[in-house]
Amino acid sequence: MVQRDKSFRVLGIETSCDETAASVVALEAGGRGPKILSNIVLSQIEEHAAFGGVVPEIAARAHVEALDGVIEAALADSGTDLSEIDAIAATAGPGLVGGLIVGLMTAKAMAMSAGKPLIAVNHLEGHALTARLTDGLAFPYLLLLVSGGHTQIVLVRGVGDYQRWATTIDDALGEAFDKTAKMLGLPYPGGPNVEIAATRGDPSRFAFPRPMKGEQRPDFSFSGLKTAVRQAATEISPLSDKDVADICASFQLAVSDALGDRVLRALSRFRSEFPDTASPALVVAGGVAANRQIKATLEALCGEYGFRFVAPPHILCTDNAAMIAWAGIERLRAGMTDPHAMDFVPRSRWPLDSISAPVVGSGRRGAKA
Ligand code: KG4
Ligand code: ZN
Repeated sequence: MVQRDKSFRVLGIETSCDETAASVVALEAGGRGPKILSNIVLSQIEEHAAFGGVVPEIAARAHVEALDGVIEAALADSGTDLSEIDAIAATAGPGLVGGLIVGLMTAKAMAMSAGKPLIAVNHLEGHALTARLTDGLAFPYLLLLVSGGHTQIVLVRGVGDYQRWATTIDDALGEAFDKTAKMLGLPYPGGPNVEIAATRGDPSRFAFPRPMKGEQRPDFSFSGLKTAVRQAATEISPLSDKDVADICASFQLAVSDALGDRVLRALSRFRSEFPDTASPALVVAGGVAANRQIKATLEALCGEYGFRFVAPPHILCTDNAAMIAWAGIERLRAGMTDPHAMDFVPRSRWPLDSISAPVVGSGRRGAKA
């Protein structure tokens, strides 16, 4: 039963990958708001850049060093004392287990000492519910999550009620961007640098494959595309700036095209399963959702098929703790708190949809969730 006559104020903590983040989010009685009172995100990009990717051990140590200060800043910025908080929500998976341990243990200690309930949040649920924080979106809707660790299409039916319709069978899309950048000698993180180079390139120079396009199976695949990029780059090596730009532009076009095909499949499935949804919507989340060409492709597709296209602001699309605090509020007001949360053990793998079969593949966050 959703509690509408209560206000909620939750502290969120996120440490599942390479951002140390804390945030306070509030919802007024009557469901008014919600308001992000503070949102601190400390990126570890500089610590990992020399290695060309996230190093789990370095990430865990950096979380240990930064987390207390980040939480203090989030509370101070929001003008909230810990005693005014209704609950502490922390990412408990999926992700790099070292970071998850740091965040969840800190949250447990704070919950215990302040006598507050703890909510162990699935990171993917944070992404899945963000559009309700930013746009007040009603259930059901579709989520396309494209980040460094995940590439999924998820049907969001309600709080805790998700159905994974598609996932990657090999690399995550952000990973494909990062690996492509690395092959071409572009700096980490690769995605934004591939996008910048692509603006100067000719997208028709290389006819890269559109993995899975037209296939019945709904999933994604990007490793074949990555191999095609490697082959093209090896053949014309040494690469000029123009070559790099052309490869990036051709890669980005192939990705947008392949993604569009998979999303279109999901839109039509949504239409047939929910014919009565008056205003169907597709939400994008994850770092790759910042890519302008991908966004434009998806927006056009949604326009064509009568779907509302919802892209939360970039800071709330990438990893942050406001989405974790918000997931905590959604669970609190729905009365979906776990009395055994203090016993929760961090889970490196934690699919949103427990019925979906795991797929082969391992990404930046370890085994694919
Ligand atoms: O969501 P995120 O910040 O972190 C997680 O992986 O959870 O996503 C980071 C990923 C990286 O792989 C990065 O290269 C990619 O998102 N990315 C982009 C762009 N900005 C970030 N990929 C393509 N185009 C971009 N503009
Ligand atoms: Zn994420």
